Parts: sequence; C-alpha cells; structure tokens
Amino acid sequence: MESSTVTSSEKSDPREQATARLSQMLEHSADEVMSCSLHQLMQDDGGRFSQLSRRVGPFLVDFSKQRVTRQTMDLLVWLASNSGLAAKRKALLEGEIVNASERRPALHPLLRWPHDKRPPAGCESVVKAIHGELQRMEELVERIRSGGWRGATGETISDVVNIGVGGSDLGPRMACQALSEFAPQSERKMAVHFVSTMDGAQLAPLLRRLDPKRTLFILSSKSFTTVDTQFNMRTALSWLMRELGQSESSIKRHHILGVSSREDRMTQWGLPTDNQLHFAEGVGGRFSLWSPIGISVGLALGMPTFHELLAGAHWMDRHFAEAPMIKNLPVLLAMLGVWNSDFLHIPSHAVLPYDGRLALLPSYLQQLEMESNGKSTTAEGIPIDGTTCPILWGEVGPNAQHAFFQLLHQGTHDVSCEFIAPVQRYTEAHHDREALELQAQHRLTLANCLAQSQLLALGDDALDTSLGDDTISGYRGNQPSTTLLLDALTPWSLGALLALYEHKVFVQSVIWKINPFDQPGVELGKRLATGLHDILEERAPMNDELDASTRDLLAHIHMAVPR
Ligand code: F6P
Repeated sequence: MESSTVTSSEKSDPREQATARLSQMLEHSADEVMSCSLHQLMQDDGGRFSQLSRRVGPFLVDFSKQRVTRQTMDLLVWLASNSGLAAKRKALLEGEIVNASERRPALHPLLRWPHDKRPPAGCESVVKAIHGELQRMEELVERIRSGGWRGATGETISDVVNIGVGGSDLGPRMACQALSEFAPQSERKMAVHFVSTMDGAQLAPLLRRLDPKRTLFILSSKSFTTVDTQFNMRTALSWLMRELGQSESSIKRHHILGVSSREDRMTQWGLPTDNQLHFAEGVGGRFSLWSPIGISVGLALGMPTFHELLAGAHWMDRHFAEAPMIKNLPVLLAMLGVWNSDFLHIPSHAVLPYDGRLALLPSYLQQLEMESNGKSTTAEGIPIDGTTCPILWGEVGPNAQHAFFQLLHQGTHDVSCEFIAPVQRYTEAHHDREALELQAQHRLTLANCLAQSQLLALGDDALDTSLGDDTISGYRGNQPSTTLLLDALTPWSLGALLALYEHKVFVQSVIWKINPFDQPGVELGKRLATGLHDILEERAPMNDELDASTRDLLAHIHMAVPR
C-alpha cells in the first residue's frame, strides 16, 4: 500500500503514523507469505481453518485459502480499526452525509429499517417517509397481483415489464431470478420481464409476444432522464397506443408506473401521481433494490418475499454495526480484498457462484463494487498512488470450469476468487422426489466447488493429498480464494448476502479514502454520446474537431444507415 497520498500534515497525525506503521508491517507480512506457498502455509498451521473461518448467522466464510497468516488477519483488522471506520460506519448507518461530492447521505440501510423498531435519532422522518412509500408499494402490488388493477380496456394484468438500467435493473432482475422458487404457489402468476439495453434487442421480441391489453410497464429510473430507459419507454408507449387505439394519457394511467426520486419529472412527463412511487435522492442507484425500485420483486414473488429480503439485509446491517471487527464479515471480506489488491498486487477478482440461481450476482456485484470504488482519487480529490477496486468478473462456477478456469489454473495472471454456494439446495416448494434429486445434483456441484478452490490454492501439491498421480502437473496454485457458504438460498439470506457486499464496499472505500456513493466517471460518456447522436440524427453537423477515428466511423455509419 503506497503512502504517497499522505500529505505532510497527515504525516504528523498519530492515526496516519499508525497507518504507515501497520502498512509497513503488512508489507513485511506480504513478503513472508509470498515467499512460501499456500500449501506450506496450510501445512504449517493445522488450526488454520478454525482460526481463519467465521460462522455467522447463515454464513460459513472460509478465508483459510487466502495467502495470509493469522497475524496478517490481525494486522488487517487493526488497519481497519485505525482508519476511523467505527465513526464512519456510524455516520453511514445513522443517515448522516457520507456522499460529500453530492452532499447526500447514503440511505440504503434505512430503507430496510423494521417497522417495529425505533429509528436512529434524527432519522425518524426519513424512516417514516420510507415506510409510507413501502406501504404504497405494497398496496399497488396487491392491486395488480389480485387483479384489481385494470388495463385501458378493462383487462387484468398478466405481464409486467421493468424498464430500467444499472441499479434500476440489475438488483430486481437478479433477485427475481435467484428467488423464483419463492413465488407463492397459490396465487395468480405474474410474469415479470426486464428490459435494459438501449438497442431495443430485448424489447422488440418481447413486444411481439406480449398482450398489450394485459401488460403493465414500470419505468424505473432514479434520475428519470437516463436515455436508455427513456428511449425504451418511448417505444413501449407508441406500441401501446398503436395496439390499443387509446390516448397517451389513458395509456399512461392504465399501463405505466414510474419509480424515481424525481417526482417533478414524472409529473411533467404526464404520469398521474397515483402511478408514481418515490425514493429519496440519498439512495444510490446501485443501492436501490430495497426501495420501490424493488417493486418488480414484489410483483413477481409477493410482498412477503420482499419483506424477508429487507429483514435479511437489516440483520446484516446490525451485524456490521455491532460485531467486533475480528468477527465482522463485511470488515473481513473488505480487508482481504484490500490485502489482495494493495499488498499482493492482484488486479483481478472472480466471483463464482456455485448455484445457477445466482447467475446474475457477478453482474450485480460488478456495478456495486466497480461503480463505487473504481476511482483513482480520494474523496478530497487527491490522487491515489496505490491500487483501488480490482477488476471484478465472474460466471456461474460449474460453467466457468469449462471456460476460463484453464487460465486460473495454468495461466500467467494472478486472480483472487470468491466461491459462493448454498449448502442446502431444495426448498419447501419442491416435492420429495424432486428435492432428493436436486440435493444429489447439488452435492456434485459442491464437490466441484471445493475441488476448484483446493486446486487453485494447492496447484500440483493437491496431488499429494488426493490423487496420488504424478503424471498430471503444471497447476500453478497459490491463487487465493474465499469460500462463502450459505445454509440455504432464501429471500432472507440473499438480503443478508447483498448487504454484506454493500458494507464490504463501504469498508474498502474508507481504507482507500474514496467516496463510494458518486459515479462521476460515467457522466462525460453520456454527454459525448448525446453530441454524436445529434450528428447521426442530422440535428448537428459533423464536428471537425472530432478525432479522426470517431469522425470516420460516424461517416461510415451514416453512409451505411441513412436516416
Ligand atoms: O451508470 C450510471 C447510472 O447513474 C447508475 O449509477 C444508475 O444505476 C444507472 O445509471 C441508471 O440510472 P437511473 O436509475 O437514474 O436511470
């Protein structure tokens, strides 16, 4: 971890001095662990698993396949404690301004504050507003699911399409996929679809098979200006008007709901107040699943499932707030990430769920982690010399084994990995026979999960312990990983899992001195795209100041695709 971001006044600060000392000790520890193999570390310390794993709530998290010693873990926890984390965590959880550039709090923990618990002091009105909107969302969900909501021609709703992108898409889409088995069996089925891409590739085939009389669109957009979403909605609106032969205002009243923090823009667009759900600007897009942005989860799976998701996340909030640092899962997960990134210089992190229901988790975490901490200046604008958020990628583990595990085992890149798997696969929704079959398949999946983490850690040394076949070799080993086992994948445990990652991101931002709640790096691309779109639409002339590559590509497209 570089210390050149520390200014001279900071150097005289006792906390900064302690940070510098701890960093030095961690550098020393990194030299030590790099000089011996993970196999050696595991052989040298028989109590490694019990010392370097944590059983908390529904989680068993094994850090013993990380390239650390017990002492490294202690040092990392001291580094976290010395960073002022406790005060910053309190500020986050109690709704204070933690997003300095936008002068906003980060309200996602308050979105899951329970009804029957007194809110943190000073947050009473915020929590009251949150609960009021949750109640409105519940009423809307109930009306739509029960058949009380009618389309413009008097039909009930059978299909809901969430139009949104980034945080207004990834969270609800991932949760709906992960928890589809939890849809109540007894109630009317509601098909929920997600459209995010601006190219119409998802929307066009969907419109071909949907019944406009029975389709409701949810326009999910915190800002209510994102062009991707606006363009998709414009296409959907014309489709509804054309197919149903109704006025724009009737279509908006009967077939469109809006979820946004910009009530004014929804109203200006002509959406009736009753069709709007609101959340505060202090809820970041990538943290907004818990807000009315989650309405598609309620519609697909019922509100009890959504409430369970909130309850699991709140449990993790309390764990984060109250557990000692050495047992605190978000702190440990974050600090191991800092270790791999800053001290072992591993630039890449693979998320590997061993359960197909979590297929979208890597994408969800890509936005959560990289949009939050993919920055190179501190919150004060000072350049950071060391590294920050690694490149995060991933895929469902068993499929990835047949794709990129070759590189992990025998390639030239250091990659840290996160294996995530539920222990029990079946749920109450499965009949006896199906449950047995599913669990049998899942045992195979778990065996593969453990085999891969074992091989990544030990490399050729894995042969000693299990296969005894010295004709197979060339496995690099020493690729560190964490294995995160969930007792079972439920709405509650998924809520806790996602909140675990949210807080991991926050802890890392404290260590790196980053503001994790803004995303200035995505703004300029949007502005440039607007300018280029104007040229393609012939609303603006070709700009001679454009770089030659962009200008000639534009000219090529223009010639090939005349307006
Ligand atoms: O990618 C930038 C971003 O602002 C994300 O942070 C956000 O989740 C996404 O765009 C969608 O924004 P909105 O919900 O305002 O449409």
